Amino acid sequence: MNIGQTTKIEQSEIRSMTHLCDMENGINMAQGLCDLDVPHEVLQGAQDALREGENFYSSSYGIPELRSEIATKQNTFHKLNIKQENVLVSTGATGAFYTTAKVILAPEDEVIVFEPYYGYHVSTLLSLGCKIKFIATSPPEYNINFNKLNDLISPHTKAILICNPSNPSGKVYTKKELETLGQIVTQYNLTLFSDEMYEHFIYDDTSFISALSIESLQESAVVVSGFSKIYSVTGWRVGYAITSKHVIEAASHVNDLIYLCPPTPLQYGVLQGLKKLPLAYYKNVAIDHQQKRDKLVKTLNEVGLKANSIKGAYYILADISKIKGDTTEEKAINLLKLTGVATVPGKAFYNNMGDLHLTRFCFSKKHEELDEACQRLKKFL
Ligand SMILES: Cc1ncc(COP(=O)(O)O)c(C=O)c1O
Repeated sequence: MNIGQTTKIEQSEIRSMTHLCDMENGINMAQGLCDLDVPHEVLQGAQDALREGENFYSSSYGIPELRSEIATKQNTFHKLNIKQENVLVSTGATGAFYTTAKVILAPEDEVIVFEPYYGYHVSTLLSLGCKIKFIATSPPEYNINFNKLNDLISPHTKAILICNPSNPSGKVYTKKELETLGQIVTQYNLTLFSDEMYEHFIYDDTSFISALSIESLQESAVVVSGFSKIYSVTGWRVGYAITSKHVIEAASHVNDLIYLCPPTPLQYGVLQGLKKLPLAYYKNVAIDHQQKRDKLVKTLNEVGLKANSIKGAYYILADISKIKGDTTEEKAINLLKLTGVATVPGKAFYNNMGDLHLTRFCFSKKHEELDEACQRLKKFL
């Protein structure tokens, strides 16, 4: 039997490393699960909904109260003016990106993506038949070369994609960078996809600025985000897209076709989280993760895996040049064998890594597990 287009979609490196980690009985710092406890309010909200009979299909836009509450939260946090009609609830940020990209982009359209990138973005675009043009950004700042970006734009370019804060680089876009992107997007009539999944994982004195708060991007940005990380419910599959009403309407039909709706009782669970969790919840998540970042960065530098103190998200791209192996894949596997700590080889985030030898550590782990990982790194390296 022939396998068609899907042969182009491969297992993600993250899943492969997780599999290897299980075989080695290692500490999994590869997968980007958030290791917080699920807030009581969120669990209770889902339990109540299950018992109260909210077990059926819901609207293909998501339940209205949740759409409205997402708009309220984003307006409060980022001083925006979003309405319920601008919000689509989908099966995770992954579904939100897929459904909106499907209605905005056509096969052969070009999309500009910055390296290092989040693999699912690239796989989603490829699954839609889009052509990707990559621009490399380099450690430690991962600055954008706007001249290069301008040069890459062709009549076929339809969108630019950013991940802010970035998985895997930890870059947090400045207002100036977003405004420059806004000028470019307006000049060439493009869409800016902005994945803001880690908006609350922000460290030191860094400010997070949503693409939707930039005037020139208000009509042309699609923000995707979700609850997987901030409420630690990656398996619930509830996320959202925020953009103009007509895109939301069209994307709701794709949502309906592919997913029907995100799980109804779980939408009620995150709704209660939005309604009941105080601002302090979000601040504490950032404080906790900042401590974890500091712990891991210190250890990595002590053992000679050079790492920078990132500003957002919860990943560190560390230099593993000193580990044996010809490729970052071999090096990451050797690191796992040597220390029992699994990471994702840098190759997963680059089209062309040049002479960088990076691997990605996820530090959203319980403190005890993170301590154990740090001890192993110190003992074996
Ligand atoms: C940048 C980014 N976007 C989206 C996702 C997936 O989000 P969801 O679970 O809501 O589909 C991840 C998960 O690692 C991510 O890192």
